[in-house]
Amino acid sequence: MRTLITGGTGFIAAELARALLARGDTVVLFDIAPNAERIADIKSDVILVSGNLAYSSELFNAVRDNRVGHIFHLGSMLSVPSNANPWAAFQANVVGTMNVLEAARLFGVAQVIFSSTVATYGVGSGSRVDDLTLQRPTTMYGSCKLYAECLGRFYRNRFGLDFRGVRFPSVVGPGAKVKHVSQYYAWMIEYSALGRPFQCFVSEETKGPAMYFKDAVHALELVSRAPFERIETVNYNIAGITPTPSAKELELAVTQVIPDASISYAPEEAIMEYYKTMRIEVLDDTCAREEWDWQPNYADLITVIKDFVTELREHPAKYGL
Ligand SMILES: NC(=O)c1ccc[n+]([C@@H]2O[C@H](COP(=O)([O-])OP(=O)(O)OC[C@H]3O[C@@H](n4cnc5c(N)ncnc54)[C@H](O)[C@@H]3O)[C@@H](O)[C@H]2O)c1
Repeated sequence: MRTLITGGTGFIAAELARALLARGDTVVLFDIAPNAERIADIKSDVILVSGNLAYSSELFNAVRDNRVGHIFHLGSMLSVPSNANPWAAFQANVVGTMNVLEAARLFGVAQVIFSSTVATYGVGSGSRVDDLTLQRPTTMYGSCKLYAECLGRFYRNRFGLDFRGVRFPSVVGPGAKVKHVSQYYAWMIEYSALGRPFQCFVSEETKGPAMYFKDAVHALELVSRAPFERIETVNYNIAGITPTPSAKELELAVTQVIPDASISYAPEEAIMEYYKTMRIEVLDDTCAREEWDWQPNYADLITVIKDFVTELREHPAKYGL
């Protein structure tokens, strides 16, 4: 299979690329700012294309020239940068998604897998959300992603494109560099494992659902492999670590594994504003479980922290550390 990953040298994409190479795909990584460090171990095995999702021709060339058959669309500006620059976020996340769908339609790409987010929920969502919960995002990031979900569904209905999407909670793993509203979760573990103090930018009571990065890749592969006729919901919640811990409960779990961790709290106003409307504790992923047999391999928080620390210590270069 010839597979293109947009945002191909990002945190989740690099791990997905390793998994796709292992199953024998020819992998094309398309990124506006290719991070060679993050893919140092697979650089000679992939085709790296530098390009901007917002420039349709740059993407079309990559899809046409490499005879791409499948796309994993992970390229995106994340929450904090999107709110800081909503104009660029619109180009990357909305225009960029439209360009991916057009590339698929024009060049006969068989399937597009999209990575959306729980940030598409918001006002009035409550503490438990399922795939039918009304999505009323408050952020630029969530608004762009919700539009992209709808656009993908439209292309599926109108043009028969095999579009499928997953809504990730916070994805936790080593080596993520871009700050987003829930990045405190991974950095609390990472800083502690590296023996560095961590000042948490949300309050001790803050809660948000999360998933281990290996499970995020597992979900992308699984949804991609499901038979076309089983895909009814199209955009799916997927849950990972359960139950959802507060930042303080996360700290207690981290100190169980890393007793000398040093964690303090300095909540940032703009990020706490987001958590005022975002109170999700339970991400109901029944549809993913029923339609494509989704199940996380890393639901237990202590197991996640232990694996995270092992990854960091055994493969620091892989995570740019
Ligand atoms: N990390 C999380 O917690 C999380 C949670 C929910 C959803 N997601 C989604 O998963 C996907 C991957 O996230 P990540 O955490 O790996 O982020 P990341 O920032 O590490 O990766 C995103 C990549 O997209 C690239 N990119 C940005 N704008 C681009 C453009 N205009 N053209 C081409 N490439 C561009 C960046 O250079 C980067 O390499 C994103 O779509 C994100 O919205 C992530």
